Amino acid sequence: MPDWAQPAFENMVSLNRVQSKVYETALFSAENILLCAPTGAGKTNVAMLTILQQIALNRNDDGTINHDNYKIIYVAPMKALVAEIDETQIIVTTPEKWDIITRKSVIDRTYTQLIETTKDHIRLVGLSATLPNYEDVAIFLRVKLDKGLFHFDNSYRPVPLAQHIAGKHQVLIFVHSRKETAKTARAIRDTALANDTLGKADRQIVEDLFAEGHVQVLVSTATLAWGVNLPAHTVIIKGNTNL
Ligand SMILES: Nc1ncnc2c1ncn2[C@@H]1O[C@H](COP(=O)(O)OP(=O)(O)OP(=O)(O)O)[C@@H](O)[C@H]1O
Ligand SMILES: [Mg+2]
Repeated sequence: MPDWAQPAFENMVSLNRVQSKVYETALFSAENILLCAPTGAGKTNVAMLTILQQIALNRNDDGTINHDNYKIIYVAPMKALVAEIDETQIIVTTPEKWDIITRKSVIDRTYTQLIETTKDHIRLVGLSATLPNYEDVAIFLRVKLDKGLFHFDNSYRPVPLAQHIAGKHQVLIFVHSRKETAKTARAIRDTALANDTLGKADRQIVEDLFAEGHVQVLVSTATLAWGVNLPAHTVIIKGNTNL
């Protein structure tokens, strides 16, 4: 790495393997980039390399930098994600400030406005954790698939992730949509059903919730009817073949 770029990486000995692969394109070209790499893979330093590329273009012979000649805009989906960015040279913006809904429209608007106002080449650098549709996103960001798209799968995680199901403990599952909550719950129910473990944990809770009035409608198989005292205003028996 050239001397002038090194102070930006003060506490680091070398670039990691993700950064090394993106290095040439990031620091020595003006290609648009989409970098998809797992959490902790070091994407911020790739952004740093692209910032240095722009600053280098505006370096005077005496080493001073002509800061009026360029603009760097950092767009992030939430304010919390830009807290670490020094705003003296970088314009930071989030959808919250813009008061509009989608990230796509923020990028679109930022890009279009910049092109209209400056007429100069604008370099777009997208950083993301692994995306299933990274090629679509690359096309949207005007990234050349052969030159600017860098995709690193989960084998590039600095800390490998193993999947376990901790059956005895409580589990909180975050999903990306409302529809997905029901879908996930159904999948868990089906697995429990297949393993004949459905009644294990939740039966008592459901009974208690109903007894205390927190659940308004309880749909049950005949098993609950045997030996359980759950008073209800209305009882519906939908078919009586199994009773
Ligand atoms: N070359 C390097 N040498 C040593 N440490 C590094 C190097 N590159 C990055 N790090 C450190 O690794 C950590 C993770 O880096 P970073 O936050 O950039 O990851 P990220 O890819 O942006 O992850 P996320 O998707 O979670 O935002 C940081 O603490 C950073 O300082
Ligand atoms: Mg990051």
